[in-house]
Amino acid sequence: MPDSSAAPAVHAGRPVGAAGTFALGGRLPVNRLGYGAMQLTGPGVWGEPKDPDEAVRVLRRAVELGVNFIDTADSYGPFVSERLIHEALHPYPDDLVVATKGGLTRPGPDDWRPVGRPEYLRQQCELSLRHLGLERIDLYQLHRIDEKVPVADQLGELSLLQQEGKIRFIGLSEVSVAQLEEARKLVDVVSVQNLYNLSDRSAESVLEYAEQEDVAFIPWFPIATGELARPGGPLETAAHQHGATPSQLALAWLLRRSPVMLPIPGTSRLTHLEENAQAARIELTDAEFEELAAAVQP
Ligand SMILES: NC(=O)c1ccc[n+]([C@@H]2O[C@H](COP(=O)([O-])OP(=O)(O)OC[C@H]3O[C@@H](n4cnc5c(N)ncnc54)[C@H](OP(=O)(O)O)[C@@H]3O)[C@@H](O)[C@H]2O)c1
Repeated sequence: MPDSSAAPAVHAGRPVGAAGTFALGGRLPVNRLGYGAMQLTGPGVWGEPKDPDEAVRVLRRAVELGVNFIDTADSYGPFVSERLIHEALHPYPDDLVVATKGGLTRPGPDDWRPVGRPEYLRQQCELSLRHLGLERIDLYQLHRIDEKVPVADQLGELSLLQQEGKIRFIGLSEVSVAQLEEARKLVDVVSVQNLYNLSDRSAESVLEYAEQEDVAFIPWFPIATGELARPGGPLETAAHQHGATPSQLALAWLLRRSPVMLPIPGTSRLTHLEENAQAARIELTDAEFEELAAAVQP
């Protein structure tokens, strides 16, 4: 649990804490700047990474920098990302939340297909528990709602897993406000993970809903898969002016956008991880926030 009395020391060596915390479900606090572990696999989010040792170093360094919220999925690899997290970090620090997902199958590289049949979701949850070496998953996210299966069946199975103590909290991914409202009539939903960044704000209405309801909003592609970080990209001039890097500004903007925002930037490299972690220290003024929003038109 974050301890505010230890905050100055934490910030010195662990910059991630500077962005503050969000309590999942009102009672599981995590630092708002997390880490997304999808980039740790081979190309097309398929198979083993080119440099598994670097993947392990990235995960360990993320925790040293103060990350205590790591996002992954059974389908990253498949299972490669979860296994690397286990290898690098197990036994886990007490305050680490590993959030995983189930509900997308992988016939091959870059191929993702929803399967929401209850027995499949149960099997994948059991496999994630085994691969992560956990007795309970703190946040289990339905990766996609499968349109071919009644949503009550999909969420009903997650609810059963929750009652059995295998899942603590339930989250959703890539949903509309209407889907979120429907889901919340069936189960308690503590987080929603949708595509959102400075250059793609199409999930704005979902973010606003999450903000109103105190549901965590986890923006995936927070730096637009690197597009917002590249030299010559839309944030380069502003980054020079701020003495920051484009990727740091993209993340600082998200952190400033809402207190329910939990960005999970992904990287396979230590250098990028270190750079992204420093984004937590950047505090944008209202004027700077508006300027960046205007500089990158969605
Ligand atoms: N729910 C869903 O459907 C869904 C979909 C996609 C992703 N996600 C989750 O969201 C997380 C974040 O998404 P993402 O990783 O695809 O996209 P992202 O965080 O927007 O961008 C990652 C890309 O940016 C590069 N990058 C990272 N930091 C950089 C820096 N400081 N300078 C330059 N380039 C940098 C990375 O390359 P290097 O490896 O070379 O650093 C990588 O190619 C994923 O890891 C995953 O956990 C969820």
